[in-house]
Amino acid sequence: MHPATTAAPYDAEAVARVIAERRHLDGPLMPVLHGVQEALGWVPPEAAGQIAQALNLSRAEVHGVVTYYHHFRQHPVHGPVLQVCRAESCRTVGAEALLQHARAAGGCTVEPVYCLGLCALSPAVMLQGRPHAKVTTQRLDELLAEAAELK
Ligand code: FES
Repeated sequence: MHPATTAAPYDAEAVARVIAERRHLDGPLMPVLHGVQEALGWVPPEAAGQIAQALNLSRAEVHGVVTYYHHFRQHPVHGPVLQVCRAESCRTVGAEALLQHARAAGGCTVEPVYCLGLCALSPAVMLQGRPHAKVTTQRLDELLAEAAELK
């Protein structure tokens, strides 16, 4: 599933659906958190309380996991989600310029990440869950324009 592209507010029913689907799994907290983020694009603070109650955990335990893993967003996304690799291989061939370019262009949620497993084809980005390699600023503009058209 692609990440949500718009700011979805806290939706207790959507969170309840995710919990119902995944609570039977071994160690259900991480799968539930991933599912909530897939459904809403982020993990609203209200969802942490709902998840804690459903999984018989403390709210602090859930909050701790959400804040520990940078993957989990604590704020809603705006537009397509673009992840730009800032690890060594990408950094040496222009990742920072891509990051700045994307932030200046606006219209998407830009997130730095550390290695997308495409080091031999740096610089790499992930747009709406799809990897792209050897990305130039011009190619990035094209990808963002395509993503905007798909909204
Ligand atoms: S360093 Fe960027 S994909 Fe590995």
